[in-house]
Amino acid sequence: MREGMKTTMSGEKVAVELCKGINGLDKIVLREARGSSAEVCLYGGQVTSWKNDHGEELLFMSSKAIFKPPKAIRGGIPICFPQFSSHGSLEQHGFARNRIWSIDTDPPPFPTNSSNKAFVDLILKPSEEDMKIWPHCYEFRLRVSLSPSGDLMLISRIRNTNTDGKPFSFTFAYHTYFSVSDISEVRVEGLETLDYLDNLEDKKRFTEQGDAITFESEVDKIYVSTPTKIAILDHEKKRTFVLRKDGLPDAVVWNPWDRKAKAIPDLGDDDYKHMLCVEAAAVEKPITLKPGEEWKGRQELCAVPSSYCSGQLDPQRVLHG
Ligand code: BG6
Repeated sequence: MREGMKTTMSGEKVAVELCKGINGLDKIVLREARGSSAEVCLYGGQVTSWKNDHGEELLFMSSKAIFKPPKAIRGGIPICFPQFSSHGSLEQHGFARNRIWSIDTDPPPFPTNSSNKAFVDLILKPSEEDMKIWPHCYEFRLRVSLSPSGDLMLISRIRNTNTDGKPFSFTFAYHTYFSVSDISEVRVEGLETLDYLDNLEDKKRFTEQGDAITFESEVDKIYVSTPTKIAILDHEKKRTFVLRKDGLPDAVVWNPWDRKAKAIPDLGDDDYKHMLCVEAAAVEKPITLKPGEEWKGRQELCAVPSSYCSGQLDPQRVLHG
């Protein structure tokens, strides 16, 4: 891992620092020269903070988040692996989000060279205990990086290292909690007219009708085979998040709304107003890897200022620009 201040060829300063977070949990802080930053907790391999160059937090963290194993941290970007949801033999959303990851000191090279200088490589491998509940050998490598302009990129590489010749299958999600000013003022573009599985109706399949998605009650949907670009428009903050994904065909949209929020112990009663989960995911069709095979899934987030004039944002520009 890179540690301390580094000066790039162009003279910019970037930093990667290992330090202690809440309850002594190890975290890595990434800082870019223009001021943006991100924090990654080794517990869960979880991004817990992403700030723009004005120091504004872009990810939601619950006011009641518990930074202590075995509870997964409610906020930031938990990683759901090897099982999304409670559909399967494992605990809800799998175990990767409540394991201690390690810093990967010698990751295999990436095929494309990235200009990002502030990054960290993490790795998760199964413990003996994990093998009892999911009997497969794997190497899960996660790179978290910040671009010079403050974009946040997560790349996961999962390799089947079974020596018994057996394939394995998994589902996956980057369970991103976006921070929004007021959920009632938010719209999501890029998912309209798509099919979704509704978690609130026993995963029945529906087709999204009409316009962009807005929020006025609990939502828990898995949009299947979505475009690679989704926009989350926060009118009040005049901010648009653009999520780009690769290798992750689905997108989960979740907000628990008031009643469900009250039933979630580590979520404040009013927190639902300030969060929206839009999750790059592979859920409908599990990914299968034979021994020696590797899967790659990428999520890239950027936050851009947007203006809202008489009800008309320009979705074409956001989505196709
Ligand atoms: C979402 C699921 O991804 O995560 C919801 O679609 C679930 O069904 C939510 O309630 C939160 O899950 P958890 O396990 O973090 O409370």
